[in-house]
Amino acid sequence: MNEIRDAILADQLDALGGLAVPESYRAVLVRKDEQDMFVGMPTKEKDPRKSLHVEEVPTPELGPGEAIVAVMASSVNYNTVWTSIFEPVSTFGFLERYGRVSELTKRHDLPYHVVGSDLAGVVLRVGPGVNKWKPGDEVVAHCLSVELEDPAGHDDTMMDPQQRIWGFETNFGGLAELALVKSNQLMPKPAHLTWEEAASPGLVNSTAYRQLVSKNGANMKQGDTVLIWGASGGLGSYATQMALNGGAIPVCVVSSPEKAEIVRAMGAELVIDRSAEGYRFWKDDDTQDPKEWQRLGKKIRELTGGEDVDIVFEHPGRETFGASVYVAKKGGTIITCASTTGYLHEYDNRYLWMNLKKILSSHFANYKEAWEANRLIDKGLIHPTLSKVYPMEEVGQAALDVHRNAHQGKVGVLTLAPEEGLGVKDAEKRQKHIEAINRFRGV
Ligand SMILES: NC(=O)c1ccc[n+]([C@@H]2O[C@H](COP(=O)([O-])OP(=O)(O)OC[C@H]3O[C@@H](n4cnc5c(N)ncnc54)[C@H](OP(=O)(O)O)[C@@H]3O)[C@@H](O)[C@H]2O)c1
Repeated sequence: MNEIRDAILADQLDALGGLAVPESYRAVLVRKDEQDMFVGMPTKEKDPRKSLHVEEVPTPELGPGEAIVAVMASSVNYNTVWTSIFEPVSTFGFLERYGRVSELTKRHDLPYHVVGSDLAGVVLRVGPGVNKWKPGDEVVAHCLSVELEDPAGHDDTMMDPQQRIWGFETNFGGLAELALVKSNQLMPKPAHLTWEEAASPGLVNSTAYRQLVSKNGANMKQGDTVLIWGASGGLGSYATQMALNGGAIPVCVVSSPEKAEIVRAMGAELVIDRSAEGYRFWKDDDTQDPKEWQRLGKKIRELTGGEDVDIVFEHPGRETFGASVYVAKKGGTIITCASTTGYLHEYDNRYLWMNLKKILSSHFANYKEAWEANRLIDKGLIHPTLSKVYPMEEVGQAALDVHRNAHQGKVGVLTLAPEEGLGVKDAEKRQKHIEAINRFRGV
């Protein structure tokens, strides 16, 4: 592994194809025999530092259409939090199901799950049938894994019945020194970014792109007013940039003055601090308070000069969904991709049908959408929102930060990269965008 790391650090990328692929590698994983460790505990008390381990694991066999990547850096996504607290279900069920698909997919059904759905690194080997990529290519990977043997996926690959999120519903994820991906997950690494910066946008940037911009999502147009929950978080920090870039008007919801400051620094003018406003959309576990929905609606109108929002960018779920449906404009769209605070949503359907509003769903992104989202990063039109970087050994703490909502933007993890700041190939482009690239650092 050291030879591989040294070759990458010395920029001797042509040498990588000639170096042996190590038989084992260090990886962040959860163990099947620990999947019941948090049973009976409240969600908030489940501690990823206890369940995420860094261990040496055997390198998987390389199959047709696949690639093994030497991972320089990765990032923490909320799905790693879900895996690490075994909620809402243990991800070993996903691996077992995937293992039943074919002889080759059996590799994924193991007593451990190597997690992580982002990476930046260098291709080490490609399997039979891979022509587009070769050893030595500097890449990032998106997290859509598809088999595409069924016609359903050939219009939009997210519709493939065998669609999975790599590193969450498959094994051999990106929080590791090596990762196994399908070659159609690979995309060029933006040359102006460090390894850890390049590794951080992938999953959330692609998801926000489909959810907000794509015709498969809310299909935002210039002038649209967009309510963005968690606007300084993983998804929200990209949605905010996309709204601003696309000529839309984001109304950013955050929960502290620091978070308000950071979305303002991105260029958002309309900001709501939900903590300062003290919204309580639920009176108790079973009863919502429509007066609080109205109070939010009034606040939005105050900020927008009397307008309601065309699009609500939803992901908190149960806590906010009733309010989201209420505040959307007549004919507006509530687009949801998650349920962080609970997946059994409740809303008043009168406000939906009488006002011809639409609830749409979105989930990750197809290869084309992920590629377009990565292109925005490469062109310097969207920037990473990396706030903090941890070494792989401290991944449990990194996941705990995200679990506790104590982070901003994205949290990075160094895997093979020995330190931050490496991997930049286009210093001139970097300089042009340096302020935006560093906007979230250390906040
Ligand atoms: N379907 C997909 O493809 C997909 C892709 C990515 C993520 N997700 C899911 O989307 C969710 C968010 O992911 P993320 O990466 O953006 O996570 P994140 O970085 O933790 O950001 C989420 C933001 O939501 C806000 N929030 C938390 N609790 C809230 C509440 N009770 N009311 C209102 N806002 C609240 C927080 O912002 P403030 O505290 O500042 O308000 C937080 O920053 C997760 O459940 C994740 O699994 C789904």
